[in-house]
Amino acid sequence: MKKTTAAITAVGGYVPDFVLSNKVLETMVDTNDEWITTRTGIKERRILKEENAGTSFMAIKAAEDLLEKRGIEASEIDFVLVATATPDMPVAATAAYVASEIGAVNAFAYDLQAACSSFLYGMSTAASYIESGRYKKVLLIGADKMSSIIDYTDRTTCIIFGDGAGAVLFEPNEEGLGLQDEYLRSDGIGRQFLKIDAGGSILPASEETIKNKQHYVYQDGKSVFKFAVSNMADVSALIMERNNLTKEDVHWLAPHQANKRIIDATANRMGLEADKVMMNIDRYGNTTSATLPLLLHDYEKQLKKGDNIIFAAFGGGFTWGSIYLKWAYNS
Ligand code: UT7
Repeated sequence: MKKTTAAITAVGGYVPDFVLSNKVLETMVDTNDEWITTRTGIKERRILKEENAGTSFMAIKAAEDLLEKRGIEASEIDFVLVATATPDMPVAATAAYVASEIGAVNAFAYDLQAACSSFLYGMSTAASYIESGRYKKVLLIGADKMSSIIDYTDRTTCIIFGDGAGAVLFEPNEEGLGLQDEYLRSDGIGRQFLKIDAGGSILPASEETIKNKQHYVYQDGKSVFKFAVSNMADVSALIMERNNLTKEDVHWLAPHQANKRIIDATANRMGLEADKVMMNIDRYGNTTSATLPLLLHDYEKQLKKGDNIIFAAFGGGFTWGSIYLKWAYNS
């Protein structure tokens, strides 16, 4: 009997309308367009301004975009997985709300949190449910409202992050397309370098923590950069080697969009020319869990059935890894 693989059969995406440019950031903190552009590759990012709207607002839009494009009813979905580091609320899964709002009445739903690797890990989870034969339609959404946890007086973090959401549908495939291999890693040594100190079980929120701005993202950028650069390149090279893929065999690299310099180093290590590297960091910044599905959303029209795509991500925790996937359709 032929092995059932898990293929991506549709994508959707959403970014808020409001654009926060480097020029505007220059008026908010001591920074400049030249520094941000050369150090990160970011020109602008999107910020969700709607009142009382959280991550679910964007996740729902991305899911609705996908459903319309795929032409299926939400009631056909078995499982909704929301990869996010910024759930609507610390308790009450965002995914459950998203599933109900889009009309996925026959699905169960939960969130997955692995910082910037959330979506990558989510691909593994979603694909496993399909490969096992247990479910037929798994909706994986990567969404983050990073602006809700960023201190806009801290120039070391506020220039990096943006808001957005992307969604993919995983379905069974009998042609051997879809997820081929994965190499996922984590190392708790990294949690000191990229974290939010307060609001969790170690340090619950208090007047003191608010005063100290401990509810915002703290990042030791230099240290994270060092780990990210070597680890993302290592796992991408490893997955190529393990699957006997030459640089000619790889059609696309879909890398987490944290810093253009990290992306370039990964592509270099893989021997890939720039035209094989998906990139939208200049327009969206780092949208954490949304970077990978937003890349697919932006590049969907250029992807061909059978294309070999290497996904790679690195994030807080530390968490990182790579996934090798064969694209399953022409659009
Ligand atoms: O997605 C999750 C994982 N996250 C990442 O992968 C992020 C990894 N880290 C990075 O991308 C980079 O480390 C940053 C973009 C965060 C920072 O770039 P960097 O080249 O590592 O800069 P740096 O922290 O070494 O700072 C260099 C200088 C410092 O000044 P001095 O000490 O040399 O005088 C900073 O104070 O740049 C200064 N600086 C800034 N200057 C203008 C820091 N932020 C800014 C800024 N504008 N926004």
